[in-house]
Amino acid sequence: MLKSNIKLTILFLLAIFSFSKINAQAWDVPADKKAKNSYIKFDENTAKEGEAIYTKNCVSCHGNPGKANNLKTLNPIPPDLGAAKTQALTDGELFYILNTGRGAMPSFKNTLSEEERWKTISYIRSFNKQYVQVVSKTDPTKSKLVKIKLDVDSLTNKIKVAVIANEIKGVVLLKDAEINMFVSRYFGKLQIGKTLRTDSVGCVLFDFPKNLPGDSIGNLEIVINVNDEIYGEIESINKVKIGVPTNKPSLTEKRAIWNVLKLAPWWIIITYTSILLGVGFILLLIIKNLFKIRKLGED
Ligand code: HEC
Repeated sequence: MLKSNIKLTILFLLAIFSFSKINAQAWDVPADKKAKNSYIKFDENTAKEGEAIYTKNCVSCHGNPGKANNLKTLNPIPPDLGAAKTQALTDGELFYILNTGRGAMPSFKNTLSEEERWKTISYIRSFNKQYVQVVSKTDPTKSKLVKIKLDVDSLTNKIKVAVIANEIKGVVLLKDAEINMFVSRYFGKLQIGKTLRTDSVGCVLFDFPKNLPGDSIGNLEIVINVNDEIYGEIESINKVKIGVPTNKPSLTEKRAIWNVLKLAPWWIIITYTSILLGVGFILLLIIKNLFKIRKLGED
């Protein structure tokens, strides 16, 4: 009996162990992130700049690529980034890993700029003789030229989104750009319809649900997210009168746990106060007795 219990326990621990090992290996990167490429062309200079960033931020854990001097005491062990396993990842996957981190691997999204993150990857790639870069056509400096216009038809509940870029040479209509529409809710965003692509004049038409509650005059906060091959990712937030006018009570108006004192029932106030006083009294008692014990010790 005891023996079979021990066997079971060992099996169980092995199962957990092997599961955590699988967990530590695979990176589950969304398809669009996986296909992302750097807009910076990798060359000797970017690799050199990347080396400086790497030496400052990565070498303490990962060691020098190809030197196998990575920190072996962490779990999982930070891989040698020159090794084939890491080099088999796409540039988009490396970028994603740098952005999100996992476990002991920190996220560098807020500590390194996008340019610095790509240059670090450029350095990592310099250890792979077979690597051929695909450069992205995106020019991130162009995203601020983009204007997103909404045209609301409140009769049919349709919203037309037009995307243009104000280039020096004139207005450019963004064709075949990916558009997502969301409505801001208390917690997070609600996607409206599917992802659409702009037509030949840079427009898409969204069917808007008829029954979404808005504020007291029917305003909703609509977030438009544009993803264009050249202009990159742009987001705009718009107040649009297309919801159902709703008089939402504010969170503190009704009785709630975070409510103001004057709306709380008297028995809650009394119970709460007496518990507080009780705890305080016991604390005082403990302190008093501690002094007493010390006094006894001294005597
Ligand atoms: C505090 C230690 C630490 C630092 C600093 C660190 N990493 Fe990591 N890194 C890890 C660990 C641990 C893993 C393995 C994480 C896992 O698999 O869950 C990892 C995984 C990775 C991977 C995935 C490799 C693979 O083959 O799966 C890449 C790429 C990577 N790190 C790049 C970097 C870069 C670039 C930097 C510096 C900008 C950096 N790391 C800084 C600890 C670190």
